[in-house]
Amino acid sequence: MALGGESSRHGMWSSRWMFILAAAGSAVGLGNIWRFPFIAGDNGGGAFILVYLLCIFLIGIPIMMAEVLMGREVRKSPINSLRKLVAISKASPAWVLIGWMGVAAGFFILSFYAVIAGWAMDYVLVTAQGTFVGVTSEGASAAFDSFLQSPLQLIFWQTLFMALTVWIVARGVSGGLELAIRVLMPLLFLLLLVMLGYALTTGSFGEAASFMFRFDWERMGVDAVLAAMGQAFFTLSLGMGAIMAYGAYVPNNASVPGTVTIIALLDTVVAIAAGLVIFSIVFANGLEPGQGPGLMFITLPLAFGQMPMGTLFGTVFFLLVSFAALTSAISLLEPAIAFLVEEYNAVRSRVAISLGVITWILGLGTVFSFNLWADVHLLGERTFFDLLDFVTNNLMLPLGGLLIGLFVGWVLPRKLLVEQLEMPALWLNLWLLLVRFVAPLGVLAVFVYTLYRAAMG
Ligand code: TRP
Repeated sequence: MALGGESSRHGMWSSRWMFILAAAGSAVGLGNIWRFPFIAGDNGGGAFILVYLLCIFLIGIPIMMAEVLMGREVRKSPINSLRKLVAISKASPAWVLIGWMGVAAGFFILSFYAVIAGWAMDYVLVTAQGTFVGVTSEGASAAFDSFLQSPLQLIFWQTLFMALTVWIVARGVSGGLELAIRVLMPLLFLLLLVMLGYALTTGSFGEAASFMFRFDWERMGVDAVLAAMGQAFFTLSLGMGAIMAYGAYVPNNASVPGTVTIIALLDTVVAIAAGLVIFSIVFANGLEPGQGPGLMFITLPLAFGQMPMGTLFGTVFFLLVSFAALTSAISLLEPAIAFLVEEYNAVRSRVAISLGVITWILGLGTVFSFNLWADVHLLGERTFFDLLDFVTNNLMLPLGGLLIGLFVGWVLPRKLLVEQLEMPALWLNLWLLLVRFVAPLGVLAVFVYTLYRAAMG
C-alpha cells in the first residue's frame, strides 16, 4: 500500500510547520480563551481541569492522530475519505455516517461560534473607544448585559464574522490563510504573555492557580466529567472531521505523532494561560468564577480598564481573539465544502456562500437566546444556545471521537496504520491501546454514567 495519494485537489500545506500552524489555528480559538475558563469556572475549577487534561492526553491526542492519518491516507473530504477507507477495509458503509454527523456538527457549532466571535469583534471597537478606562466590575457587567439585549447589534457582528469566514474559505485554505496564521499566532502568544504579566500584578494569581490546580473531589460532579470531555474534543477541533480534512493536505514527509503532539501542547498552553489570566482578574475584583458565557467579556475589560496602556492592549487582544476565532471557523466549514466540491464538481466560492447563509440563519437562534428567547427553555433549563452547545460538544463530538477510535483501531488494516504513523512498535501498540480501548470506553463510560444519573434525577 503506497503512502497516501500524491496530493489533494483542494491544495496542500506548504510544509510540516504550516500544517502545525493551520491545525493549531483551528484548535486555538474561542474554545481556549472564552469557553475553557467559563466551563472550568462553572464546574468548580481544579477537579474539572484534571479530568480535562486526562481527556486531552489519553483521548484527544490519540484521536487527533487517527483523524490526521485517515485524511492523509485518502486526501479527500472526510465523507469521501471514509468511503474509500471503508472500501479498502471491506467494512460496512455505515461507518461513513461519521462523516455526515461531522458535517452536521460543524454547522451547528459554527452557527453559535459566529455569534460569540461577533461579541469579540464588537469588543475590539468598544475597547478602542476607551469605554472601559477605569470601569468597575458592575460597570463591565452592565455594559455586557446591555449589549446582549440588542439583537440587531449581535446580528450585525454575526453577519460580519460569517462573511469573513465565507470569504476566506471561498479563496481556498492555502495562500492567504497560511500567511495570516503565520503572523497572528505568534502575536497571540505574545499578548497572552503580556496578560500573564498583568495577572501577576493583581495579587490574585496564586488564588487563581490554586482554584485551577487544586484537585478537590468534593467539587467534582458527573456533569463536570461530561463537560471536561466535551471541552477536550471542542478545543482540539476533534470528532467532526475538521482535523481529518486538514490531514488530507499534510505533506507526506511530516510525522503524524510529532505534529499532533505539538498542536495539542500549544492548544493546552493557551487554554491554561487564558484561565490563569481570567481567574486572577476574577478573584482580584471579587467576581464569581461561575459566570457562564459572559466571563471573558466582563473580566478582560476590567483588567484593560486598570492597566497602563490598557486601551491599546485591550484592542489588540480582542482583535487577536477575533482572528483566532476566524482561523477556527474556517475549519468548521472546510469538511462540508470539500465534500460538495468533490461530489458535484461545484465551484468552491458558491458552495461557501450557500453554506454560510444556512449557518447564518441557524445562528439567529443563538442571537435570540440572549434576548427575545431568553425565557424559552428546552430540555431542562436550557436556552436554544445552551442546547446547541450541549448537544454538539457533549454528545456529537465525543460520539464522533468514539466511532473514529473504533474505526481506526478495529477496522483499518494494521499495515496502513504502520505506514502512516511510522512509530516504534512499542509506541504504536500504546497508541492502539488508547484508540481501541481507552478512548471508546472512556467516552462510553461517561455517556452511560450521565444517562444513569439523568434517569435517577
Ligand atoms: N477548536 C476551536 C476552538 O477551540 C473550535 C473548532 C474549530 C472546532 N473547528 C472545530 C470545534 C471542529 C469542534 C470541531 O475554538
